[in-house]
Amino acid sequence: MSELETLEKDLIKAIKNTNDLGALEEIRVGAIGKKGSISALMSGLGKMEPEQRKTFGQAVNKVKQAVTENLETRKAELERAALNKRLETEREDVTLPMRENPVNQGRIHPISQVWEEITEIFADLGFKMAEGPHIETDENNFTKLNIPAEHPARQEHDTFYFAEKQDGSRRVLRTHTSPVQIRTMESEKPPLRIIAPGRVFRSDSDQTHTPMFHQIEGLVIDQETHMGHLKWVLEEFCKTFFEVDEVIMRFRASHFPFTEPSAEVDIGYSKVGEEVRFGGDENWMEILGCGMVHPNVLRNVGLDPEIYQGFAFGIGIDRLATLKYGMPDLRSFFASDLRWLKHYGFNVLNVPTIQGGL
Ligand code: PHE
Repeated sequence: MSELETLEKDLIKAIKNTNDLGALEEIRVGAIGKKGSISALMSGLGKMEPEQRKTFGQAVNKVKQAVTENLETRKAELERAALNKRLETEREDVTLPMRENPVNQGRIHPISQVWEEITEIFADLGFKMAEGPHIETDENNFTKLNIPAEHPARQEHDTFYFAEKQDGSRRVLRTHTSPVQIRTMESEKPPLRIIAPGRVFRSDSDQTHTPMFHQIEGLVIDQETHMGHLKWVLEEFCKTFFEVDEVIMRFRASHFPFTEPSAEVDIGYSKVGEEVRFGGDENWMEILGCGMVHPNVLRNVGLDPEIYQGFAFGIGIDRLATLKYGMPDLRSFFASDLRWLKHYGFNVLNVPTIQGGL
């Protein structure tokens, strides 16, 4: 076998045995690259006799052609194999269910949901939002609301006090949202129609009390506002909130230093096992305190009670959530238990609106 034939045979054998595109490329460069073995033979042709050059040249050309063809075939084979392998490992099962969108996993806390629902309802009735700080002055939380020092009502509030300042004044964690009444009346002129949702704090804890809870304060001040308006507003609110045509509520005469007359409102409910069900008159849950703003309070903020009057109310947001959504224990609201939140929480996109439904 001639040297040329051996070269051809070896090259083709090597090409067929390669399983790797990189190695194949090396073989190609080694054979027909600029400095490859076949190219070397070609460049040697110049030194030959014309006759020999012709026959040897033809033979080398044949070998080059055969090697080139083999290289191309093998390259195509290897590329196809590589593609098939990729297709095999990167296969997608399009019948698999879609992965859950994170938006659907997150939950809105029932308190946030109910907070939104309540503000939406009052906004629709023409109430404006107002706000006040959690840390209040003793003045705003008590004194200006007609609860002077040594008044027994101060004890009932289980107040968290801050250390007394040098001037003798002391701050408190607000025990109700009523100080926002004072802030509003001091900074704006009547007619006023505001609601103020927020956190409040009392040192108290059992199944129906937590040391931090939520209230929404309402205040209307005008020249001819009376108790009938108050009752209508609260009835409208309850009907919309509980999404019923008729609501069973009980106005009970009560006492608050900052309103006169005063009432507390209870909503009827029944219990099914541990769950609280809205409606009926089996049990009553107190959800709010209300009344006509006391003349002393009006005087304290510089309003003339001979001209202005109005009503105020303070609704327990947590209690309302309990009644509407059946959660039995207030304390679990703030336990940060994800299982609880998954069960009682709301979808992020389920934004309450009067038109779309609460
Ligand atoms: N601030 C009262 C409470 O926390 C509720 C209330 C508000 C009562 C406004 C009358 C008027 O219990």
